[in-house]
Amino acid sequence: MFFHKYVLNYCNCIIKVSVITWPDPSCACQLKIYVSLPWQFCLLQGPTSSPSADAVKTAAKEFLRFINRSPSPFHVVEECKARLMAAGFSEIKETEAWNVKPKDKCFVTRNQSAIVAFAVGGQYRPGNGFSIIGAHTDSPVLKVKPVSTQEKHGYVQVGVECYGGGMWHSWLDRDLKLAGRVFIRKGSMIESHLLHVDRPILRVPNICIHFQREMTSKFEFNKETHLLPVIATVLSQKQESTENHMQCEAASTEPPQDQCDKHSPALIQLLCNELAVEPTQILDFELLLSDAVPATLGGVYEEFVFAPRLDNLHSCFCAIEGLTRACSETDSLDSEPHVRMIALFDNEETGSQTAAGAGSKLLELILKRLCTGGSRTAFEESMPKSIMVSADMAHAVHPNYSEKHEGKHRPEFHKGVVIKINANQRYATTAATTVVIREVARKAEVPLQDFVVKNDSPCGSTIGPIMSANLGIPTIDLGAAQLSMHSIREMCETTSVYHTTALFKALFEEYPRIMASMKM
Ligand SMILES: *[C@@H]1O[C@H](CO)[C@@H](O)[C@H](O)[C@H]1NC(C)=O
Ligand SMILES: *[C@@H]1O[C@H](CO)[C@@H](O)[C@H](O)[C@H]1NC(C)=O
Ligand SMILES: [Zn+2]
Repeated sequence: MFFHKYVLNYCNCIIKVSVITWPDPSCACQLKIYVSLPWQFCLLQGPTSSPSADAVKTAAKEFLRFINRSPSPFHVVEECKARLMAAGFSEIKETEAWNVKPKDKCFVTRNQSAIVAFAVGGQYRPGNGFSIIGAHTDSPVLKVKPVSTQEKHGYVQVGVECYGGGMWHSWLDRDLKLAGRVFIRKGSMIESHLLHVDRPILRVPNICIHFQREMTSKFEFNKETHLLPVIATVLSQKQESTENHMQCEAASTEPPQDQCDKHSPALIQLLCNELAVEPTQILDFELLLSDAVPATLGGVYEEFVFAPRLDNLHSCFCAIEGLTRACSETDSLDSEPHVRMIALFDNEETGSQTAAGAGSKLLELILKRLCTGGSRTAFEESMPKSIMVSADMAHAVHPNYSEKHEGKHRPEFHKGVVIKINANQRYATTAATTVVIREVARKAEVPLQDFVVKNDSPCGSTIGPIMSANLGIPTIDLGAAQLSMHSIREMCETTSVYHTTALFKALFEEYPRIMASMKM
């Protein structure tokens, strides 16, 4: 029996047809059965690839779970670890010697906020290339200050610092939750515990309309003085502390020394209850605020994702999915000559120049370890054979601000993954890497769109140019289209989760063959 798959263009709409031929295509008498796969969706989605509505929704819902469990970079890494381990990857430590062999699947973390995972091809030899997808785990966020306690007019407030370039006005009047890591003393040990208080704890109240008549046309807002979330009233805090015999009374040392002096009893009590520890065990912490409303599907046709941190958890999720699927769904890893890798860094929103950021040597050190045992120049040989996808979100055209986009480069929803190009190299994309990704996309039936910023508009950047400058790996910048980037709650569409995952999976499977066919 022979099975053929055809893709036909009918009424400007792609239809997939499978033909089963029996007993043999060359035989004169043969039975043919034609099966038409679901194609109705291309009517909605235009003349491109047509994943089934179920597949699209399933992928999007899994993405929602990923976001809802990942309120901080620490939780992103924890969630990635869980998914990798479920797919047969195991943890190795930077602090130990490695003995990585072909077909091994491993991951390494740094600062609990960056993670690099890789699957070594069955045919890998040091000096062969690396197929890498890079993204970032951090998003603009409010972070609890080292000394956060504030009391004003009966309110207990929490001082916060702005991390990254957030649209801070969007944080007003939101139900905010808390998440991060807390360092705890346990006997003679110091342990880092992840904390996720998954309910509304804080709120930054806006000023009501009646008190801002003179400001209505121009809302003025100061990041230092107007961004002070309320966590409790002084009255309740006092009552609760007495009732619960809280062993945390500010010793009023100047400057404050322990955590009880630095933070309100309300906050310390919350941490103690959540982690089942005493105030004196809390040594220090990094706590981030986030929207308490879970990520959700939206729109009449449930075709949107309304969620916090799409930038860049979308790319992180698709990278994890692409890698784990490419390594488990097929046995293509056996014949793979490359190392398939994802690198999810922290601190992109502040410029990447940190130990866990893309500006660090983290990736280089890992790549070099994987080149040991080859020729003396195995690492140098491998770099030009490799590819790096710098995956980060792109700007969809805005219904009311379409003039912000260059007329011929206006990414739309459901129209595919966006390739980002910039002549001034704010994006690392080149024609050579674009050709590769177009080949991959053709194989995976994933539509693509192009983005270039207007000449009179500033251009954002990504980890792409940093990585490619450091390592010399041919790089492409791409990502899904979204709206409201850097708002507390952003918006994208569901098909991009499916498409981006399919593209990443296909990149791992197809790149070595495409590379071998390229002549420059
Ligand atoms: C460790 O992770 C936290 C949380 O994302 C971040 O604020 C900090 O900058 C990271 N440290 C380093 C050295 O990368
Ligand atoms: C956006 O809204 C403004 C104000 O209503 C209007 O003047 C403008 O024409 C709109 N722009 C577009 C591109 O729709
Ligand atoms: Zn980003």
